[in-house]
Amino acid sequence: MAAFDSARRKFMIATAAGLAVSGTAAAQSRTDDGPRTLNGKPMPEPAPEKTAGPVKPGRGSTLAGKVAVVTGAARGIGRAIAVELAANGADVVALDIAGPVSPASNAQPATPQELDETVRQIEAFGRRSEAVKADIRDIAVLRKVADEVERDYGKIDIVVANAAIQRWKPLLEMEEADWRDVIDNNLNGTANTVRAFAPKMVARRKGRFILISSMQGKHGTKDGSSYSASKWGILGLMKSAAMEFGEHNITVNAILPGLVDTPLTRYEKRLSESIAETGRKPPENPTPQEAWDVRAPTVPLKIGWLQPDDISPVAVFLASDAANLVTGAEYEVTGGDSAKSV
Ligand SMILES: NC(=O)c1ccc[n+]([C@@H]2O[C@H](COP(=O)([O-])OP(=O)(O)OC[C@H]3O[C@@H](n4cnc5c(N)ncnc54)[C@H](O)[C@@H]3O)[C@@H](O)[C@H]2O)c1
Repeated sequence: MAAFDSARRKFMIATAAGLAVSGTAAAQSRTDDGPRTLNGKPMPEPAPEKTAGPVKPGRGSTLAGKVAVVTGAARGIGRAIAVELAANGADVVALDIAGPVSPASNAQPATPQELDETVRQIEAFGRRSEAVKADIRDIAVLRKVADEVERDYGKIDIVVANAAIQRWKPLLEMEEADWRDVIDNNLNGTANTVRAFAPKMVARRKGRFILISSMQGKHGTKDGSSYSASKWGILGLMKSAAMEFGEHNITVNAILPGLVDTPLTRYEKRLSESIAETGRKPPENPTPQEAWDVRAPTVPLKIGWLQPDDISPVAVFLASDAANLVTGAEYEVTGGDSAKSV
């Protein structure tokens, strides 16, 4: 390792001294290419696998040769992430329950056809894919999936824990399921995903977890406490896992989307809630346009909500080698809405 570093430094010093190097080699050297010393003593540097490496075109988007698993991949944000990982070179296993999750879910269940469509879109980018119908609440099943993916694809580089449900219910009106099912699905299911796949990454001393939280995991949500609590919990899980897995060279980060138009949010009560979140009293049965028109002026980038494809590029970056030194971090993608939060 030391020999490598010393060779690299000599090469860079030669470059700085104006010796002939090819354009490509020059473009791939470090940007701070002077000798790194203090009072004649060398500054220690991280080992090559512990840096984002030299600048090169596309290094934040190249996932060629990597294998990913995405939960909740049948539709919405999960599908966008699965397809965008594939568009950038990864083979992607698309996991989803593809059916009802709980009566404590306000969204229509996803379907096996939607999951197949995700696989079709991944394969359209020339990548290998398959649909796995599984429930993230069942850790034994997830461990089996981890074994099978490792056997069939040779390794698991990236796991995106995205599957979740949402419930709008005031605390005073909650049934047991309105609290328990949301926590069990979103928080316990995400922890199951991390616990089932982590041993595969530990064994290879490399891996990426990307957990999907929410801006509702950064502030309270009136009439949405179980969802909000589950998403706060995911941030605690993410930071703890980042601390535990760092020594295994595994990174763990979270993406916090703002309001995104998906089946999770595309229903009338959510439109009313999205207006109420701005402090305005929602009209009776607002139209989507009315909700957009109230929300957009309150968001710095003047949008009512985002699209799934606006979230997925961040997952590509976090999965890439360019993010080698990013862990325990929260990435907010909100059109600027999060600028209002602490
Ligand atoms: N849409 C938004 O505004 C928004 C905002 C912030 C965060 N998020 C988060 O983004 C993620 C994706 O949300 P979305 O809007 O795409 O929702 P979605 O309902 O469109 O997709 C969620 C998918 O997860 C699957 N799923 C749920 N429980 C599962 C389980 N137990 N096992 C396997 N699969 C399961 C569903 O079948 C569905 O296909 C979620 O974690 C959500 O909390 C969404």
